[in-house]
Amino acid sequence: MKRVGLVGWRGMVGSVLMQRMREENDFADIEPVFFSTSQTGKPAPDVGKPGVPVLQDAFDIDTLKGMDVIVTCQGGDYTTDVYGRLRDAGWQGYWIDAASTLRMADHSVIVLDPVNRKVIDAALSRGVKDFIGGNCTVSLMMLALGGLLEQDLIEWVSPMTYQAASGAGAQNMRELLNQMGALRDSVRAELDDPASAILEIDRKVTETLRSGDFPTDHFGVPLAGSLIPFIDKQLDNGMSREEWKAGVETNKILGRSGNPIPIDGICVRIGAMRSHSQALTIKLRKDLPVSEIEAILAQANDWVKVVPNEREATMTELTPAKVTGTLSIPIGRIRKLAMGPEYISAFTVGDQLLWGAAEPLRRMLRILQE
Ligand code: HSE
Repeated sequence: MKRVGLVGWRGMVGSVLMQRMREENDFADIEPVFFSTSQTGKPAPDVGKPGVPVLQDAFDIDTLKGMDVIVTCQGGDYTTDVYGRLRDAGWQGYWIDAASTLRMADHSVIVLDPVNRKVIDAALSRGVKDFIGGNCTVSLMMLALGGLLEQDLIEWVSPMTYQAASGAGAQNMRELLNQMGALRDSVRAELDDPASAILEIDRKVTETLRSGDFPTDHFGVPLAGSLIPFIDKQLDNGMSREEWKAGVETNKILGRSGNPIPIDGICVRIGAMRSHSQALTIKLRKDLPVSEIEAILAQANDWVKVVPNEREATMTELTPAKVTGTLSIPIGRIRKLAMGPEYISAFTVGDQLLWGAAEPLRRMLRILQE
């Protein structure tokens, strides 16, 4: 049984990982050791088995060195601080990480096994030890498009994203709700009065949105009642870092960085809680009937689900409200675009904490035990 060190298991991604590991009975097959950056010596969480040691110091290289595998959801600063020191100290174990720090490093592989199991297996056989979870938007798009990618039917993709607050962090989810509440509270009396004028309600809401009191500490600007068309840092070519990741990470996941599929679009934050959505414009390498495209997409993995391009099905099945908290990856709105027979549209939704973050990590841990 592998000794598995878990770091950052109490944060948002870490908590989702813990929940999934409990649901799938993953702890039965490992010897878990929980680490903490602040609570060394306190009891470990209950994972349904005896003998789990108390919390260990997450900065103690000697203790970390005793692990066969380390799974971290602690974040990029922790990875930057600890990973190099641990390798310098001669540690040969497997490092499974949710943070983006090591994603594009030559010595790492980005894990999304339903799509790139072959890339993972090849890496394991050549001795790669660093397995990193991908960007949430990228992983969710790739699971949805798995069938077309597998058959190399895509010439390029332009994803326009509608990303949830959770991608920015737990505090941002709280702030989104506080913003929603502040807007509602500012027109409570008018909403209770069916005769009140809608333009007056709108004027007051806008005034609240723009007021100095509106809670924007985390997003910096209003998200509720608005949107934010820039995610992550600004690069010097006009791209956001989130947009840059779409192309480089997708191609790295596929093991085709030398012969990349162009993937580029605009990433936008919207007022959803934890499911990211994406509108995709895709140029196929050939003209295929929509029914065939749907069949190719539907068979690719156990989680993708093709939603027929019909109003009722789309409104009920293809939304964050429906998908959140599940591993389902619906893709719909598939139709030919006016630009020509190789151009199709699609819309997909996925929980950014499950397939977007935690699930690929726990599955990588399972692969190491095969
Ligand atoms: N960067 C993503 C976002 C989340 O801001 O939505 C993590 O991959």
